[in-house]
Amino acid sequence: MRAAFRVASVAALAIAATTASHAESPGAANPAVKRGAYLVRFGGCNDCHTPKVMTPRGPAPDPGRELSGHPASVTLPPPPDLAPDKWMAATNGDLTAWVGPWGVSYAANLTPHRRTGLGDWTVEQFVKTMRTGKHLGTGREILPPMPWEDLAALNDQDLRAIFAYLRSIRPIENQVPAPLPPK
Ligand code: HEC
Repeated sequence: MRAAFRVASVAALAIAATTASHAESPGAANPAVKRGAYLVRFGGCNDCHTPKVMTPRGPAPDPGRELSGHPASVTLPPPPDLAPDKWMAATNGDLTAWVGPWGVSYAANLTPHRRTGLGDWTVEQFVKTMRTGKHLGTGREILPPMPWEDLAALNDQDLRAIFAYLRSIRPIENQVPAPLPPK
């Protein structure tokens, strides 16, 4: 009981430390950035867009590589054979690469890095992308499992807040590969 409590308070301290470091990050005083951080957390963006570290409870987001997308340095073996009456989709250990009937998709780099992230996107392009499910609002269709339909249900203010938060995080250089067509 006592040990369990100690573990719980260590976890609480770790959470407090994470929150504190977030509070000190640039732009954190901006209410839109704060709201964006909250929505990104609830929206599970880290589940797919942040590379993982292995823990006894499975893969967990690596805070040092927040939202930097599928790591360009990782070479994956060919995807397993899938079929609708067997297993329909599979993912890698980072949960950043996904294979299914749509081919292979790689979670995008959402950091403000200019060349490899969303650095050159405008807030209008971000909102349009999430509303239409098309790259920059006019390009190719965004592939599963990116849940853009869920984001499309948010109001403009919340989508703008998400973008404000994505602008406030550390830019990380990581060129995510282009998706592969189905076999
Ligand atoms: C279940 C996994 C998953 C979750 C959760 C997820 N994404 Fe994605 N996301 C992806 C994948 C995979 C792609 C790449 C899709 C493609 O190449 O078409 C992507 C692409 C994107 C893109 C780039 C679209 C483009 O036009 O290039 C943006 C922006 C994005 N996601 C934002 C978010 C945000 C913000 C959240 C959280 C609210 C989120 N994603 C949650 C998997 C996910």
